[in-house]
Amino acid sequence: MENNINHILGIDIGGSGIKGSIVDIQSGKMLFERHRIPTPPNAKSEKIAEIIGEIAQFFDYQGVIGCGFPAVVQNGVIKTAANIGKSNIGTNANKLFSEILNTKVSVFNDADAAGYAAVNFGVGKGIKGTVLMLTIGTGIGSGLFIDGKLVPNTEFGHIYMQNGLIGEKYASDFVRKNEDLSWEKWGERFNEYLTYIEKLFNPDLIIIGGGTSKKIANFQHKINIKTKIVPAKLLNNAGIIGAACLAATK
Ligand code: BGC
Repeated sequence: MENNINHILGIDIGGSGIKGSIVDIQSGKMLFERHRIPTPPNAKSEKIAEIIGEIAQFFDYQGVIGCGFPAVVQNGVIKTAANIGKSNIGTNANKLFSEILNTKVSVFNDADAAGYAAVNFGVGKGIKGTVLMLTIGTGIGSGLFIDGKLVPNTEFGHIYMQNGLIGEKYASDFVRKNEDLSWEKWGERFNEYLTYIEKLFNPDLIIIGGGTSKKIANFQHKINIKTKIVPAKLLNNAGIIGAACLAATK
């Protein structure tokens, strides 16, 4: 593909799939349908890099890559691994991915990336105050923004709820499927989680992202918090878009 500095490959690494597309970072639009490759169980960083390479090749892309990773990522170094192989902890993903892929790769927390897209191009655009993106998938990710500025690496999916359980172990989409919960039952759990989040952080807006954002109609009637809550307009593509746009800032 022809090199255009406004067109950057964004990648979203999830517990079940690695997805990517080329993003126009000025409009925040994906140029193509995303390409998805399943995440191998306990994938090591080298394997993940290989898959990113396959996605780049699929789009015939050479250039800077932005990547959302489901972990705390400080200055490109992976610090946690709740839903991805533990061997990744301590890896300097910026360095390793850049070396393997022979291009500059910048890695960020996946929910931070999704939130970045939402506050720049989606439902969070122009909102003053505290905006909280919650991505519901294999885990629960959080991206916190104050007047549009990211507070990186919050991990609100890992708060201990008042029932003693970790938020994402109680109310993620993985838990819904794994425990075969009805949308009603899961909606009640998610509402409990949101109620606690609201109590602790009192955001002005909560945006729901991740795969579950497409299915909000199934559980919206179970949500009764005071905070305004909306699905991400960019739905499940926010992670890809945000990763590409964040990479352009590095
Ligand atoms: C991880 C977060 C990530 C979230 C969503 C959690 O288990 O700790 O870093 O953002 O899953 O993928």
